[in-house]
Amino acid sequence: MALNSFLAALTVVALAQGASLGQDERLRYDNYSVYKVQFETQEQRSLLGKFVEDRDNFRIWHEANDELHLMISPGALSEFNSEIQMTNVSAKLFISNVQELIDSEEDANLRASRDGSFGWKKYNMLAEIYAWLDEILANYPAVTESFVLGQSYEGRTIRGIKISYKSNNPGVFIESNIHAREWITSATATWLINEFLTSTDELVRNLAESHDWYIVPVLNVDGFVYTHEKDRMWRKTRQPSNISSCIGVDPNRNYDSHWMENDGASSDPCAEDYGGPKPFSEPEIQAMADFVSSNRDKINVLLAFHSYSQLLLSPYGHTNEEFPPNYDDLMAVAKAYSAAVESLPYGTVYRYGTSADILYPASGATIEWAYNEQEVEITYTIEFRDTGRYGFILPPVHIIPNAEEALIGIVALLDKCKELGYLKLKSAQ
Ligand code: ARG
Ligand code: ZN
Repeated sequence: MALNSFLAALTVVALAQGASLGQDERLRYDNYSVYKVQFETQEQRSLLGKFVEDRDNFRIWHEANDELHLMISPGALSEFNSEIQMTNVSAKLFISNVQELIDSEEDANLRASRDGSFGWKKYNMLAEIYAWLDEILANYPAVTESFVLGQSYEGRTIRGIKISYKSNNPGVFIESNIHAREWITSATATWLINEFLTSTDELVRNLAESHDWYIVPVLNVDGFVYTHEKDRMWRKTRQPSNISSCIGVDPNRNYDSHWMENDGASSDPCAEDYGGPKPFSEPEIQAMADFVSSNRDKINVLLAFHSYSQLLLSPYGHTNEEFPPNYDDLMAVAKAYSAAVESLPYGTVYRYGTSADILYPASGATIEWAYNEQEVEITYTIEFRDTGRYGFILPPVHIIPNAEEALIGIVALLDKCKELGYLKLKSAQ
């Protein structure tokens, strides 16, 4: 055989294999279900805790002080059902087949991609987000500036955009997609960037132009790419462990602030909330911390976008026995956000409180570190839509409504911050 045709034949084989391999390599969740389990006593909670030790069959999707959302493999359903009866807790089915939701999300993404590569009718991949960011930067050079947080473990660039219409504005930092599977967060962050630059609505213009925005649409870039290519349900970073075959650290437990205190994170590398071998072990989190600490004088407010649960969470995460010094203000500001969101026709309800109080202890999170160590006095984790019907696989028709809620919420939040005196210049610039 001539070398050329041999090579051509080889290419065809490689392509064919590549295509089918790519399909096969993707983790599938056929007939995995998600249940909401409500419990009353700590005894019930610890019985339920047994499930999650079996990581092949059970995964926690969400946890609060009275309920657990559990993803269950089809093979473990009968075990689950008998355990539920014995423990005498109530279980409600949210999702009967996780793969079906993943498939229809992908269909919607493919359909939307036909009319252009970037948009908010679908979830965009990292390369699409970055290409779009470059377009935005090219179109609005006078008011935008690109910045780089640093490189991820796998060597990807973590990018951000600063939007500033004038000097001496108070600064708002938005961190998004620190958890890989929470796709609604980067969709919302990019929509906000677009609104800030293109909207003609007076309310939005005023919001955009009277603050300096530092927005990182995808912080956990490796994890995010992994959710698109391999496992839609991945949460952590992708750095391997020295002591286990399990991969990744919960980046929102990796900051050096009350790190690993009070059961606020797990020391088990296989756990979803593994805090890492040491604080700032993850290059993404070190990079974020370096940027925030070198710009702390310019940052009045820090918002960390997450999903799901429809919550506004303030510090503290490491303890519920103590409340932060400006707790009353933090609650007043959260209330303003929640009321504004609820006033929209969608009527979406957001609850608020401190992380440790209304959710669970979580130490080493972004907002805790910014608040405790960097003197950013207004920090929240915002858990976007929904409350469990779709969970992390929120259909793309929700992107714009969710983003509209975030926008109106942020308007109200910053108004309240201003009223309470939190938007003054932190230092002469
Ligand atoms: N779902 C988020 C997480 O598990 C919430 C964390 C909020 N807690 C906090 N301390 N900020 O990371
Ligand atoms: Zn999250």
